[in-house]
Amino acid sequence: MQVTLKIRRYNPETDDQPYYQDYLVEVDPNERLLDALMEVKRFQDGSLAFRKSCAHGVCGSDAMRINGRDGLACKTLIKDVATEDKATVVLEPLRHFPVQRDLIVDQSEFFRKYREVKPFLIADAPPAAGEFRQSQEQRLRFDDATNCILCASCYSACPMFDEHPEFLGPAALVQAFRFLADSRDRGLDQRLPVLDQPGGVWRCQNHFQCTLACPRSILITKRINETKRMVQKRRDEQGEPTHPNE
Ligand code: SF4
Ligand code: FES
Repeated sequence: MQVTLKIRRYNPETDDQPYYQDYLVEVDPNERLLDALMEVKRFQDGSLAFRKSCAHGVCGSDAMRINGRDGLACKTLIKDVATEDKATVVLEPLRHFPVQRDLIVDQSEFFRKYREVKPFLIADAPPAAGEFRQSQEQRLRFDDATNCILCASCYSACPMFDEHPEFLGPAALVQAFRFLADSRDRGLDQRLPVLDQPGGVWRCQNHFQCTLACPRSILITKRINETKRMVQKRRDEQGEPTHPNE
């Protein structure tokens, strides 16, 4: 079958405005969208810019907008986005990021927010016997949150950034949950100044768009709500019952 990839292009060094360019590609419906992009890059237009590395849904580098939804090009089959011959598939860069070139965005702010939540174990003492063990039940409590590949699909999907660019965002909050829910972690008080502020955990309004976009099936909204309850519990203990976004 043939598909037309309609790709939003922009080179800030030469273009005044972004524009869309069409590429007609011969593809098998069972191929992945990344294969079609590589076909364009190799044989039609070497100037087209996009990120990719693993091609197997592990590195998170080829997240983009695909027909208006966020996802990984390497995990998207052609037949799932082009249901008939000569269909058009629209590809755009992730939202809420500055575009560096074509489908490549500057993720500096995304990773700055990720680091803000201290995405590492904060313990109050070293393990007694060399290993910091926990039960299977304790591990299962945050199991899905360990699967994040930092692709930023959720960051693009979240509607809160339209008016609140200071929001930490779903991926950073998932990382906060991953450690707060860890039986070995004692870092809530160190993370509170970032989580319990207007751009923190309370900015989430349960739109669930992040959960729908996540290619790793992480229960993002649920994990954010669990984090809210942990923060609220600490506010209650400190006699501060109302969170700052109310
Ligand atoms: S939570 Fe899911 S969508 Fe968000 S960065 Fe991690 S893997 Fe990507
Ligand atoms: S190229 Fe690595 S996740 Fe798609």
